[in-house]
Amino acid sequence: KPYIVIMAGGIGSRFWPYSRNNRPKQFLDILGTGRSLLQMTYDRFREIAEPEQFIVVTFQGYQELVSEQLPELKLNQVLTEPLRRNTAACIAYAAYKIHGFDPESTLIVTPADHLILQENRFVRTMASAIEAAQVDNRLITIGIKPNRAETGYGYIQYHENNGTDPAMKVKTFTEKPNPKLAKTFLESGDFVWNSGMFVWKVKSILDAFSELMPDVAEVFEEGRGHFGKASEPEYIARAYTQVRNISIDYGILEKSDKVFVILGDFGWSDLGSWQSLHELRDKDENNNVVEANALLFDTENCFVKMDNDKLVVVEGLENYLINESENVLLICKLDGEKKFRDFVANAKKKG
Ligand code: GDD
Ligand code: MG
Repeated sequence: KPYIVIMAGGIGSRFWPYSRNNRPKQFLDILGTGRSLLQMTYDRFREIAEPEQFIVVTFQGYQELVSEQLPELKLNQVLTEPLRRNTAACIAYAAYKIHGFDPESTLIVTPADHLILQENRFVRTMASAIEAAQVDNRLITIGIKPNRAETGYGYIQYHENNGTDPAMKVKTFTEKPNPKLAKTFLESGDFVWNSGMFVWKVKSILDAFSELMPDVAEVFEEGRGHFGKASEPEYIARAYTQVRNISIDYGILEKSDKVFVILGDFGWSDLGSWQSLHELRDKDENNNVVEANALLFDTENCFVKMDNDKLVVVEGLENYLINESENVLLICKLDGEKKFRDFVANAKKKG
């Protein structure tokens, strides 16, 4: 019986202003299905796990949102972080805590904000990943065939094994390469994307922390005496001021020699940006996604989304995003996502 650890504490800044600090994208019904990305993640894993096997790790400000959206979970299944310290801390917290009550268990760690189209295939891949994770101290990643030189992902190169084992030993793991390197990786045909989902025995990941991030291991080892007790929040508040702000990809996966990859082909998409969402949504005859009361003239490949019923009249635009969410109206190039962090930072200054 694996535990499903859902990481749901990110900000989703590349979906600003729709995704906001007080309501990041994992809590939004971004696809218009009636379920948020977090809820869709939960539904997908319910195929392989019972409600009591889920652990959601989130920023403390989102605890209520999680409980509201996943009423099936008990309060002690939602771990809250006092500070954002990225995914290494998030995974360490969940792993050390679970180790305390079920040291022989296996974890599936997953982002809360991905889309998977072929759930049957997905379930089969997960089953083989769980099996593969039982061998030695393997850390299993799921590799996706790349189709563009995306710089926001991890790239995995692996040793072929002629199909003797679905899990192949990873040769190199490179997190977020620069554009030139990403292009080289893509063109070589030797690399797959890291999907961001991981499968490992709780013992394997604890060993990896001890070996490669001993500072983090030390902080959470001390947690053993506090988990499940009244002193846990206070201890966690202290622990989070001490741990590094680094993702599991940089902290462990790039460095460990225990990393294996299983190839996955199940219609995976990281709904990372407006652009990627535009690719997925239904479009009109001019390739526009329109979620607004809008009149478009001579306009192509745009994304118009309003959270109100204002009439939007657009003329002569190509590749633009127009989004009004609460008190922000954003008009920018649809592929301008690399600038989004700047937008958000400057918008904060404006108040
Ligand atoms: N609880 C918690 N705390 N969750 C977090 C935190 C945190 O501090 N930071 C991020 N998360 C959550 C996000 O909400 C998301 O669901 C998941 O962890 C991954 O974080 P991202 O910030 O979206 O990572 P990324 O997309 O840049 O990169 C990762 O995913 C790629 C595939 O989508 C890496 O694993 C890449 O290697 C991978 O290719
Ligand atoms: Mg992501």
